[in-house]
Amino acid sequence: MPATADAIVLFGATGDLARRMLLPSLYFLDADGFLPKDVRIVATARGDLTTETFLEQTHKTLSERAEGVDAAVWSRFAARIVYVGADATTPQGAALLKPALEGRKRSLCFLAVSPSLFERICLSLAESGVANDATRIVLEKPIGRDLETSRHINTALAAVFDEERIFRIDHYLGKETVQNLIALRFGNTLFEPLWNNLTIDHVQITVAETEGVGARWPYYDEYGALRDMLQNHMLQLLCLVAMEPPADMEPDSVRNEKVKVLRSLRRFTRVDAADKSVRGQYTPGVVVGKSADGYETERGQKSGTETFVALRADIDNWRWAGVPFFLRTGKRMPEKRTQVVIQFKPVPHSIFGQASIHDLSPNRLVIDLQPDEDISLTLMNKAPGLTQGGMRLQSLPLSLSLLKAYEGPGARRRIAYERLLLDAIYGDATLFVRRDEVEEAWRWVDGVADAWAEASLAPKPYAAGSWGPSGAFALIERFGKAWSD
Ligand code: BG6
Repeated sequence: MPATADAIVLFGATGDLARRMLLPSLYFLDADGFLPKDVRIVATARGDLTTETFLEQTHKTLSERAEGVDAAVWSRFAARIVYVGADATTPQGAALLKPALEGRKRSLCFLAVSPSLFERICLSLAESGVANDATRIVLEKPIGRDLETSRHINTALAAVFDEERIFRIDHYLGKETVQNLIALRFGNTLFEPLWNNLTIDHVQITVAETEGVGARWPYYDEYGALRDMLQNHMLQLLCLVAMEPPADMEPDSVRNEKVKVLRSLRRFTRVDAADKSVRGQYTPGVVVGKSADGYETERGQKSGTETFVALRADIDNWRWAGVPFFLRTGKRMPEKRTQVVIQFKPVPHSIFGQASIHDLSPNRLVIDLQPDEDISLTLMNKAPGLTQGGMRLQSLPLSLSLLKAYEGPGARRRIAYERLLLDAIYGDATLFVRRDEVEEAWRWVDGVADAWAEASLAPKPYAAGSWGPSGAFALIERFGKAWSD
């Protein structure tokens, strides 16, 4: 059993991620009795604040949430927190954290800061002696912009921390339904025998957002949808759908299987760029009843960055040969939808005759991650009533709606970071991304980006509030399929 952390050091404690996600997550973990009894939280950022002011700000943020703040939980939580104003990119700055960590042996350092600071902070932690052999480090994407820059960051981290002590977050892995995908596949005998190219026709993964890029453009313009969403969240989903059954839930058992999938992804060529992918960029339009600017207006100038990508990925291994994986993600789509669709093949022969010929649709397993969490399986049924000339059929979804799990007093949907923080505190790396995983994902994504560059594939415009450029529909139709509604 890995040892439990006795201090959490939150770098970038006054930033957006800490305020919106990390501090509320820690508060809820405390409320539910999951935080180790004596764990201290050292919040740090460059701002010269007192602990009192930081606590006031944190209390205000928490009270703005629907759940409100419980006085008893707050006083326990607040008592754990110390704020230290420091520039941790220098060893002298990092050393200012030492008094707050007095007597602590195993700290968990969460770098909620710009990735450009990762390397310098790690070195300062080592040089100042704040990091020791038991210190764990948690960081978040983007870990690089391509394979080369990602390797550079990973090598810098490795100079200070062993791989077992590096926790790379992909917040999708903290989502309840993403973990449920593992439960569904490996907790039932029902699906696994069918989970292959004999029965599955194709897989679709959609991550659609109604939000635009807005003020985030300085980051986004350098990355685009391919690097911002597909390289990480979407490939993680693809891995969980496609991986072989791991022997157990040990971190390396699961991650070994995911790496094998990434290695089996067929490399994109220049010809594939046009045949198997579409880039898009939103122009002005209407999203959920509100008018929205185009990306270039937000950006303030012309840009060649994609805010939408759709592509066909192929996994060259025995299980998945011939089964296309269609991935699409975009900003300013008509609705928020994160969904995995497993489309089964049609029955080999219909016994139902003419009356049902158009009603008979192949089974489909739909895993909805957002906004609702649900797993539904469409099955063919007899349509009730009398008919002549053959039985009429209808397709009915059998829904395992998880919403019920959120009903009842005190029940709520957890923030994905709660699971991940809890695991990092207790040292369980199963839901974190290993170095070779990040690098394999970049290797494949670099291939896509190179193919786009070779083919000079520019983003096609699409109106905000639409499902992307028309080419995205043509793409999937070329292979005889259609996006799920
Ligand atoms: C982030 C991306 O990783 O994920 C954002 O940088 C995106 O661009 C976000 O909006 C989506 O996360 P979620 O949990 O809302 O689907």
